[in-house]
Amino acid sequence: MDTIVSFFLNDKPVRIPPGTSPTMTLLDWLRGPGRLTGTKEGCAEGDCGACTVVLERHGRRMPVNACLLLLGQLHRRRVRTVEGLGGAHPAQTLMAESDGTQCGFCTPGIVMSLYAHAQEGGDPHEALAGNLCRCTGYRPILDAIARLPPEPPSCGQDEAPPAARFETADQVFHLPNRLADLLDLRAADPAAWLLAGGTDLGLRVSEHRERPPSVICVQNVPDLSAIESRPEGLVVGAAVPYRDLLALCEAEAGFEPLRPYLGRLGSRQIRSLGTVGGNLGTASPIGDMLPPLVALGARVRLASRRGERVLPVEEFLLDYRRTALAEDEVILSVFLPRPPAGRLFVVEKLSRRHDQDISAVAMAATLDVADGVVRGARLAFGGMAATARRAEATEAALLGRPLAEESFAAAAEALRLDFSPLSDWRGSAEYRLAAAGGLLRRLFWRAAAKDLPHDVMSVPAPHAPAFAAGTA
Ligand SMILES: Cc1cc2nc3c(=O)[nH]c(=O)nc-3n(C[C@H](O)[C@H](O)[C@H](O)COP(=O)(O)OP(=O)(O)OC[C@H]3O[C@@H](n4cnc5c(N)ncnc54)[C@H](O)[C@@H]3O)c2cc1C
Ligand code: FES
Ligand code: FES
Repeated sequence: MDTIVSFFLNDKPVRIPPGTSPTMTLLDWLRGPGRLTGTKEGCAEGDCGACTVVLERHGRRMPVNACLLLLGQLHRRRVRTVEGLGGAHPAQTLMAESDGTQCGFCTPGIVMSLYAHAQEGGDPHEALAGNLCRCTGYRPILDAIARLPPEPPSCGQDEAPPAARFETADQVFHLPNRLADLLDLRAADPAAWLLAGGTDLGLRVSEHRERPPSVICVQNVPDLSAIESRPEGLVVGAAVPYRDLLALCEAEAGFEPLRPYLGRLGSRQIRSLGTVGGNLGTASPIGDMLPPLVALGARVRLASRRGERVLPVEEFLLDYRRTALAEDEVILSVFLPRPPAGRLFVVEKLSRRHDQDISAVAMAATLDVADGVVRGARLAFGGMAATARRAEATEAALLGRPLAEESFAAAAEALRLDFSPLSDWRGSAEYRLAAAGGLLRRLFWRAAAKDLPHDVMSVPAPHAPAFAAGTA
């Protein structure tokens, strides 16, 4: 079993001296003991991208936020910082030639996003969504991206990391690599932080400067990292990052609407680390994965030393950030039933900004229509209650009604029976009810026309009243 954190930094091996906190963020280590100050700290909460570095895994480049990544998570991994590009990578030279190098604070992070994008490709706007620039704008940076020569992924395959345990005088960080060990560790220490990608938990370290006595990291347990497509649906391991789920959804019959929706969950940096298991574990009322899971009738598989059990996601989510997870259990995977051909599946997210923003309201719906009549509807909303949940009165108001705008407008009135949303800085209660009603009407237009694009622009919330209790 490994006892010292070691990783490759810009192709050179690094061993972290014993006694260093395994929950120190990579950003703090780089700018402190690592003496590499090219990586900057802007927000320390995963939003601004100034700290972007690239994890190189299985020959692929994943941009990540160094302010959220903990040293223990890096064990045996490969990290590249802006210093590791040598000054002459096209991501750097093209930024300079296109006048994309604006301020020294954001530029290193932007360069690292471009370095990852050169290999990963896709939508340039999506590649930059996790890098905030508040000076002269993105156009020259997009010019640089447009000229970026694509680089093929290398065909490297990393070795499976051995089990590890890093201990200091006041902390222990476990990195099990077998399910049985994970379950033993969980049973022995139910108060330990169960860490997946750390895009929620990492904030407690980077922002709130917490120093957890005990952490169990699930990222290296193969049972939680598998993703499988079956005719009847998708089995997604709890530790699968959104990035992999998103790539799978692109080509999966029935799940296509999840692609643009997940493309707006955080940024590429967040999606490289954040997991579905983490979204379920946090159980935030505005967790974006939760409405689609509830609408699809997804089932979550839980495991402990006592055995396994399977629960519908809507029974797993109990209340505000409260779930049915027992203290000795872990989330193993979630099963997403495949919507059959002919069933409409829609997911919508309304947020103040299109990218890298938390939802004010999210809706996921499945709709079955036969002979012009609504025969089945599952409507799940986020941001409307203490947890994502179904709008049962609204569903009932739709059932048996003709597929007509009036039916959906009438059903929208029933939303008031289902929800009494809170007001906060993302939207007032009235805004949320009106927005949810609007989404319902749009569901009609999708069902009637079937040709609306899956991606919806964010709609700015009208003036919200003074900040009341948060829903996050
Ligand atoms: C900048 C930024 C933007 C974000 N944007 C969005 C967004 O647009 N939409 C959105 O929904 N979320 C967003 N998030 C929140 C976060 O990315 C998601 O909630 C993500 O799914 C958390 O996954 P994780 O693997 O990082 O969880 P972690 O932080 O590792 O864990 C979160 C919780 O889940 C528990 N947990 C993790 N794995 C397991 C398991 N296997 N079994 C039991 N419990 C487990 C942990 O103990 C912890 O309580 C954002 C976060 C940041 C920092
Ligand atoms: S410092 Fe802003 S995202 Fe990390
Ligand atoms: S590059 Fe830093 S604010 Fe624009």
